[in-house]
Amino acid sequence: MGCENSSRQGALDFDAVAIQIAPSILAADYADLRGAAASVGSADWLHVDVMDNHFVPNLTLGAPVVEALAAAADQPLDCHLMIEDPDRWAPGYAEAGAASVTFHAEAVRAPYRLSRELRGLGARAGLALRPATAVEPYEDLLPELDMLLVMTVEPGFGGQEFLAACLPKIKRARELLDKHGGDVWLQVDGGVSADTIERCADAGADMFVAGSAVFGADEPDRAVDGLRRQAEAAWHTRR
Ligand code: DX5
Ligand code: ZN
Repeated sequence: MGCENSSRQGALDFDAVAIQIAPSILAADYADLRGAAASVGSADWLHVDVMDNHFVPNLTLGAPVVEALAAAADQPLDCHLMIEDPDRWAPGYAEAGAASVTFHAEAVRAPYRLSRELRGLGARAGLALRPATAVEPYEDLLPELDMLLVMTVEPGFGGQEFLAACLPKIKRARELLDKHGGDVWLQVDGGVSADTIERCADAGADMFVAGSAVFGADEPDRAVDGLRRQAEAAWHTRR
């Protein structure tokens, strides 16, 4: 634990930005989620991918599993909802114990109302953008959010190749967030690994989801630590 704490402390030294790592359990053993959570003890969050077979062509888990994992894991849960009609379903994930609930811009009908509802339930509210969705139309919504997620793969599956074409959008998102002030985290998700995390941090991301790069490693917690160090160093030398 001591080692984990010192690496988290280290993040605070760089321009007051705390780098956060959220391993995605999509790449873990679904028959042993308690064990998966325990294997990444230094992670800041557990990223939970909820897919409904409609918004994306894959089906994962729902609120009952989130509720059980929230009770079984030490880390807070970061729920990424790749589902239709989040206006209807997202609050149930906050009620199930998710500390952060992210809905997709392409699926939501009333983002102001939904983010306020999620916050009212005590959760952080996140907005996710598919790779081809521009950030600019959401500029005025940013102060209503706690997190912006820029997807760097088409959502639906783990283990896909990182889309470097999304890097300029991460950069533009960072500029918009800085312009508005406040403390909205900028998350990247999809193909984040030792090969790509530095470019994401350099573009301005401060929260990193990694599935296969963490749970596909022999020692998942070491992988978390390695990614964190790379991101911190890249943030520090950011142009
Ligand atoms: C993809 C999910 C991601 C996925 C990332 O739709 O949103 O969270 O688990 O997996 P990797 O890190 O393997 O690309
Ligand atoms: Zn995700």
